[in-house]
Amino acid sequence: MKDLIFKVENSSVKLTCLKEAAQIIDLLPDNSKYCVVADADVIKLHKNFTDLLVERGYLIFEVSAAEKNKNIETYTQIIDFMQKNEMKRSDRLLGLGGGAITDLAGFVASTYMRGIQYFQIPTSLLAQVDASIGGKTGINHGHIKNFIGSFYNPAEVFICSEFLKTLNEQEFLNGFSEVLKHSLITSQQSLEKLKERAEKILSQDTEVLLECIEESIEIKAQVVASDFKESGVRKYLNFGHTFAHGIESINDSKPIFHGHAVTIGMQMALGYSHQLGFLKSDSYKLAINTICEFNYDFSDIALDANRIFEAMKSDKKNTKTMNLVLLKDIGHPFIYEEHSNEILKDYINKFIHEFKK
Ligand SMILES: NC(=O)c1ccc[n+]([C@@H]2O[C@H](COP(=O)([O-])OP(=O)(O)OC[C@H]3O[C@@H](n4cnc5c(N)ncnc54)[C@H](O)[C@@H]3O)[C@@H](O)[C@H]2O)c1
Repeated sequence: MKDLIFKVENSSVKLTCLKEAAQIIDLLPDNSKYCVVADADVIKLHKNFTDLLVERGYLIFEVSAAEKNKNIETYTQIIDFMQKNEMKRSDRLLGLGGGAITDLAGFVASTYMRGIQYFQIPTSLLAQVDASIGGKTGINHGHIKNFIGSFYNPAEVFICSEFLKTLNEQEFLNGFSEVLKHSLITSQQSLEKLKERAEKILSQDTEVLLECIEESIEIKAQVVASDFKESGVRKYLNFGHTFAHGIESINDSKPIFHGHAVTIGMQMALGYSHQLGFLKSDSYKLAINTICEFNYDFSDIALDANRIFEAMKSDKKNTKTMNLVLLKDIGHPFIYEEHSNEILKDYINKFIHEFKK
């Protein structure tokens, strides 16, 4: 078990990494009422653990199809549930599930009676290395993701590798794209370590996996601690994301993994960094070869250069020029303002032509 503490603005967030879920129970402060906002599938798949929460008398609010229900209706139902159960400001909230649940539970916690203490148990890899770190909470509204939300930190996040065993390989890789991204924007050494440990990561070797998760979290936590409200370096966490938003947008009729779109987006950004002469060939090859060590299945993802480019342009962040996070070298991200639509569009075309799904 390893503890990481990171300071954000005036508070500090504790992250506890563990191998077994049951260990979490004894670490939760036991002097108040808890409401657990929990993913229905996680309840079923990890019944031994959720039974322990029930035995302790915790109130369970079950959310099925978390992303679909990450909205104002569910938010209101949770508030009603907590109010009916006479939860006070000194009581606590616990989020148990993937990123949709930790975002939703965090938002409830930040607003119930002007804010109550909350704990997170992220159960998907994406939530462990990304969504539960950084204090962003939120719900979707209309067709816009995370339109309503707040910045609010949990008191503690419990990262437990046992939960990951019930994710299938592609769900696991969905979250792993954030691990790859954190390494790409941090250092060549960090990336080389991922390449060396690829086989053990894919077979979910507990020691190696927890080590990778801890390192990845430390990277995100450091970035967030230095720029909580995303006015500077936190933007580098968007590496690959402008391309990925374009890819997701043209695939909106069928769900694709966000992480898979980001992984293609990062390859596009690496290739563009190389084409523009920023990223040396050796570094470019190392980055692409590392990504290829992992068994991403991109076969269902539609790629169409013109439509991806138009979707990227219509992103609200790209009103005048297109801002892309590119790499000067591995570990050296920067913001590149693209003024030439034609050069970028031609590049996306070439990338898709050569890309092997
Ligand atoms: N707050 C942030 O900084 C931040 C960052 C990135 C993403 N997000 C949000 O996170 C969400 C995406 O995260 P996600 O992929 O975890 O989504 P999710 O919560 O919808 O979970 C994805 C699927 O995995 C299942 N699942 C969760 N844990 C499981 C487990 N241990 N075993 C088997 N199945 C499991 C869920 O039931 C769900 O079907 C989005 O809503 C996104 O907006 C937030």
